[in-house]
Amino acid sequence: MNKQINFDADKFELPVDLEYIKNYGRVERVADGIIFCSGLEAARLHEVVIINQQYNGLVLDLGEEFLGVGLFEDTNDICEGMEVVSTKTIFSSPVGDELLGKVINSLSTPMDGSSLGETGKSYPAFNVVPPIMTIDGVSRPLITGLSIIDAITPIGRGQRQLILGNRQTGKTQIAIDTIINQRGQDVRCIYVAIGQKLSYVADVAHTLKTYGALEYTTIVSAAANSSLTMQYLAPYTGMALAEFWRDQGKDVLIVFDNLSKHADAYRAITLLFRRPPGREAYPGDIFYIHSSLLERAVQLNEANGGGSITALPIVETLSDDITSYVPTNVISITDGQLFLRSDLFNSGQKPAVDIGLSVSRVGGDAQHPIVRKLSKNLTLILSQFDELKEFLAFDNSLDEESLKTITNGQILLEIFKQPIVTPNALAQLVLLLFTFQEGFFIDVPIEQVHAFKTVLLEKSLIDTDFSALSQRLPELSELDEAAIVVCTQLIVQTKEAFLWAQD
Ligand SMILES: Nc1ncnc2c1ncn2[C@@H]1O[C@H](COP(=O)(O)OP(=O)(O)OP(=O)(O)O)[C@@H](O)[C@H]1O
Ligand SMILES: [Mg+2]
Repeated sequence: MNKQINFDADKFELPVDLEYIKNYGRVERVADGIIFCSGLEAARLHEVVIINQQYNGLVLDLGEEFLGVGLFEDTNDICEGMEVVSTKTIFSSPVGDELLGKVINSLSTPMDGSSLGETGKSYPAFNVVPPIMTIDGVSRPLITGLSIIDAITPIGRGQRQLILGNRQTGKTQIAIDTIINQRGQDVRCIYVAIGQKLSYVADVAHTLKTYGALEYTTIVSAAANSSLTMQYLAPYTGMALAEFWRDQGKDVLIVFDNLSKHADAYRAITLLFRRPPGREAYPGDIFYIHSSLLERAVQLNEANGGGSITALPIVETLSDDITSYVPTNVISITDGQLFLRSDLFNSGQKPAVDIGLSVSRVGGDAQHPIVRKLSKNLTLILSQFDELKEFLAFDNSLDEESLKTITNGQILLEIFKQPIVTPNALAQLVLLLFTFQEGFFIDVPIEQVHAFKTVLLEKSLIDTDFSALSQRLPELSELDEAAIVVCTQLIVQTKEAFLWAQD
C-alpha cells in the first residue's frame, strides 16, 4: 500500500535537489536575444527568471526539451553553463499616475533617466480578458475631432477600432490627432510605439507636449533598437497601465503603433525557438496573441466602476492588401476598421479614409443623435459618387440626378479634408454637416469649398450666438428652431462675405 497518499504537500519538504530542478536551471544555448535553458521544471509562461544573478529574462517558450527565455537587455555577456533562477512570479508592470507625461520602456522605466521612485503598485501585464458579465455595450462617444471619422465611422469609448493602411498614409497622425483632441475630455491616453525609430518616438512626444497632450498621456516605447522581447512586451505593459486606470473608473485610450511590427517581433522570437512556422511564417498562436490583448479593451459596467479602454491598433498593409494574415486577423478581432489608402493620400484627400472599406460596427450607438441624423445618408452619397465618378469624363451623358450626386460627393470630400491637428468640436461638426445638408455649399465653386469651410469654422469659434449654442448642444437631441436660426444666420453671413471677397 502507498503510505504517502495522504501527505500534506505544504508541510512536506522537498528534497533539495527536487526543489533545485524545479526552480533552477542552466543556460544551454544562446541565440540572438534569447536563450535556451534546461531545468526550471516549474517555470510557467511569462515568468521572470534571473540569469547569472544579473540579467532578467522572460519565459516565452515551454519547449519539450528546453525552456525558451527572452532577454530584456541586448547583451553578449551571457554564455552556456550560467545559472538561471526562477523568481516564481509572472511578469507584472509597475503602474501609477507617476507615469503620466513620461516616455517609458516596456519595463516602465522612464527613458529620460529620471526615477519614478516606488510606485508601489503593479498590474499583471498578461491579464485575462474581463468576464462577460462585467462588460457593458459601447454607448459614449470618443470624439476624434476628425470630421470624416466622427461623422461616418464614429468611435465609442470601450471600442476597438483598427487603423490600417500602407506605409505613409497618415495612420499615426490619426492616432496623434485623436490623443490631442482628448484634452479636457477626461481621457487618459497611452501611445505604445513598437519597432519605430527612437527619434520618431521623440518627435511624437514633442508634438504631444507642444499641444498640451503629454500631461494626460504615457508613451510606452520599444523602439527598433530595443530587444525583441521588449518589443513583444510593450503592448502588454501599456494595457496593464490602461487597466489600472480603468479600474479607477477612468476612460483610457490606448494606441498600438503598430501591431505588424509586434507580430514581426513575435515571429522572430518564435523562429529562434524553432517553433513550426505557419502562414506567412507567423507562429500558430499569433491570432491568440492579438485577440487576448485587444479583447481587454472594453467598457466596464456600472457595477464594475464604469471605466473603459478604447483601443486603436495600427496595422501596416503592403500594396493595400488587407487579406494578408495579420490584417485579416486584427480585422476580425476589432469592432471596425479605418482603411487608409495611398492613392487618396497622394491625391491630397487627407485623412485618406476609404469610406467603402471602412466601418464602425458599434460606434454609431455612441454617436450624438444630431450628428447621427445629419450623417445618415453620407455613406450612400459617397459610394454612389464613387461609382459615378468613372463617368465624369463623359459629363453630358449623365442625368441631372447623377450630376447632383457627383457635386455632393465632391463637396463632401472637400469638407472632410482636414489638416493635421485642427480638431473639430461637436458644434463645429454639426455646423459643417448642417451646411452640407441644407445645400449651402452647392453654389460655392468646388475649388473654394475647402476655403469657405475653413472661414466658416473660424467664424463659428468667435460668434457669440454660436458659442452659446455650442454650450447647450450636447444636451440637445435634435436641432431646435433657435439652433437652426443661429446656424443659418452664421452660414449666410459668412458666405456672403466670403463670395464677395472672391469676386
Ligand atoms: N490630414 C493630413 N494633412 C496633412 N498631412 C498629413 C495628414 N495626415 C498625415 N499627414 C502627414 O503625412 C505624413 C505621414 O503620416 P503618418 O506618419 O501618420 O503616416 P503613417 O501611415 O503612420 O506612416 P508609417 O507607415 O511610416 O508609420 C506625416 O508627415 C504626417 O504629418
Ligand atoms: Mg506611423
